[in-house]
Amino acid sequence: MTFDEIKYPVKQEITIFESTFKASMKTNISMLDLITRYIVKRKGKQMRPLFVFLSAGLHGKTNDHTQRAAALIELLHTATLVHDDVVDDSNLRRGFFSINALWKNKAAVLVGDFLLSKGMLMALENKEYNLLEIVSYATKQMSEGELLQIEKARRLNITEDVYFDVIKMKTASLIASCCAAGAASVNATEEQVVRMRTFGEYVGIAFQIRDDLFDFDTSNKSGKPVGGDIKEKKMTLPLIYALKTMGSVERKKTILAIKYNSTNKTTINNIISLVNNSGGIEYAEKRMNEYLDKALSLLDIYEESPYKEALVALVKYSINRKK
Ligand code: IPE
Ligand code: IPE
Ligand code: MG
Ligand code: MG
Repeated sequence: MTFDEIKYPVKQEITIFESTFKASMKTNISMLDLITRYIVKRKGKQMRPLFVFLSAGLHGKTNDHTQRAAALIELLHTATLVHDDVVDDSNLRRGFFSINALWKNKAAVLVGDFLLSKGMLMALENKEYNLLEIVSYATKQMSEGELLQIEKARRLNITEDVYFDVIKMKTASLIASCCAAGAASVNATEEQVVRMRTFGEYVGIAFQIRDDLFDFDTSNKSGKPVGGDIKEKKMTLPLIYALKTMGSVERKKTILAIKYNSTNKTTINNIISLVNNSGGIEYAEKRMNEYLDKALSLLDIYEESPYKEALVALVKYSINRKK
């Protein structure tokens, strides 16, 4: 199934979403308006709204609550990307200059706050307390995940277990909340909401492993810089595995190179080839596929429907995507 085919069962929902999402960023501050128009023009894949709509459709008829869940979550997601590029000192996003690259960190921090507050206000004005509870919890987890990642990048002592903790918090928590909020928006039972949250968490873990693999693929078309994680001393699963396979001398040498020379192009290229030759890519792919299978098996109890079929395809797309 192509990405457009995945969207088909919720085509109408997406059309409404696109216009509310755009309208939700309106402001009278001209500089801010310029930046938000730049953001809307270079939109991402909008997979999170798709998770919201399909998870809702799986349990009932989508409605205004579903729309607000999708809008709030995509606003929050956009805010975190704007902040994340400041945190990661990254100049490229979605194949274009990042907000911090064009308007500097000062503006980027405030734009991220603006987007988050617009989302919260939209939900609050509509008394979406259940949605706010689901999403606020994910917001807290995302900040904690990013901070734990910074702590580990400073000490260069991340283990595989901690890596999974980080990606669960910084990425999987939001995708989990998409699926939970989608189901909750159509009055699914508590048991169904919990199942969808777990489903989203597994998908989110696989999704972030795929993202981390892009960093070691010099021909990737993700629209983000190759080697950007190494540059920031972010040790992700393929590298963690590669370090484990090394003898202690080589391991020390590699860690020292990351510690003192991570911004050096030659260092980055060396580490990329070390990882590619270590089996680290295959290992990460194996773990990613385990989470894919765990996610899909949670959908077994649902009878066949266009929503289920599209959701299954969306999960597969999360790990096979090229950007
Ligand atoms: C990027 O998410 C951030 C991660 C959690 C890896 P997406 O890949 O969904 O970003 P866009 O919105 O499509 O650009
Ligand atoms: C995910 O981590 C970022 C967030 C959860 C906001 P990354 O730093 O790997 O995301 P990209 O690669 O910049 O999109
Ligand atoms: Mg980043
Ligand atoms: Mg990344």
